[in-house]
Amino acid sequence: MDRNLAMEVVRVTEAAALASARLMGRGDNVAADQAAVTAMRKSLNYVQFKGRVVIGEGERDEAPMLFIGEEVGASDSPRVDIAVDPLEGTSIVATGGNNALAVIAIAEEGGFLHAPDTYMQKIAVGPKAKGAIDITASPSENLRSIAKALKVYVEDLCVVILDRPRHQDLIRECREAGARIKLIGDGDVAGAIATAKEESGVNVLMGIGGAPEGVLAAAALKCLGGDFQGVLKFRNKEEIVRAKAMGIDDVNRVYQMEDLARSNVMFAATGVTFGDFLKGVRFFSGGAQTQSIVMRSKSMTIRIIDTTHYFEFKPKYE
Ligand code: FBP
Repeated sequence: MDRNLAMEVVRVTEAAALASARLMGRGDNVAADQAAVTAMRKSLNYVQFKGRVVIGEGERDEAPMLFIGEEVGASDSPRVDIAVDPLEGTSIVATGGNNALAVIAIAEEGGFLHAPDTYMQKIAVGPKAKGAIDITASPSENLRSIAKALKVYVEDLCVVILDRPRHQDLIRECREAGARIKLIGDGDVAGAIATAKEESGVNVLMGIGGAPEGVLAAAALKCLGGDFQGVLKFRNKEEIVRAKAMGIDDVNRVYQMEDLARSNVMFAATGVTFGDFLKGVRFFSGGAQTQSIVMRSKSMTIRIIDTTHYFEFKPKYE
């Protein structure tokens, strides 16, 4: 994959962030998501690659754009697989909360797990705790192992957990172990990335969230030198049947980071609203400013890109 692609794809997340940020706080998740999807798809068709969506907005029959299997791009090569979440945190934008992102990851063909639209139990940590996690062990065992790797007490650790009733037992066990907890309303991709950023003050993400978001988080943590494990969690038999049809034979498999994001991957995200590691979109007269992160696993480069957009000079992608 040409390294220049990394700089191309950040335009794609910028376009999605700019479009959806317009709808911040309007109470309309669907409109904010649609704005991001439309802008992302238009801008993807200007990128010099042939990209196949493997993680997208859903199956062809339920998603008019960026559906799984859709081909995008302005060229016949290089052929890449792409995983997108044009708006990660639709409710966050609708309420003007923190940590909504526009996200894309790119891999060589076959590089991503074709994750079905179901849930995934996840554990994510930053580089210093790489190798210290085991999703098959209890939360308290993981906390002890992570604390040891980070040379801190369990009481010093901060665990990010999605605030959901399904996490009652997990929250109780983390509390009993003595760890601190940051409950988030939405956005576990940002939560996973934050574990690799010391200034975020969080050390580990645990709990069940979206499976597609799990693949995106694994791609990001691979570039950041962190660690991630996931196990698919199905809501019903239909989801299991669908997963098997997508080639998932062992529905209980523990996926390591490398199983979810193989080969060389690139990851880009632009802040839609303000967050732990990226600023959100800031509008000014005639334009806006965005902040993005662009990373490549091959070189482990991490770029933070501040961009000033002047709307009268921007391509309209029409
Ligand atoms: P959306 O942007 O698709 O709404 O996803 C937000 C999110 O919080 C993800 O970060 C997370 O993985 C998932 O939803 C959790 O799902 P649920 O809200 O069903 O618990």
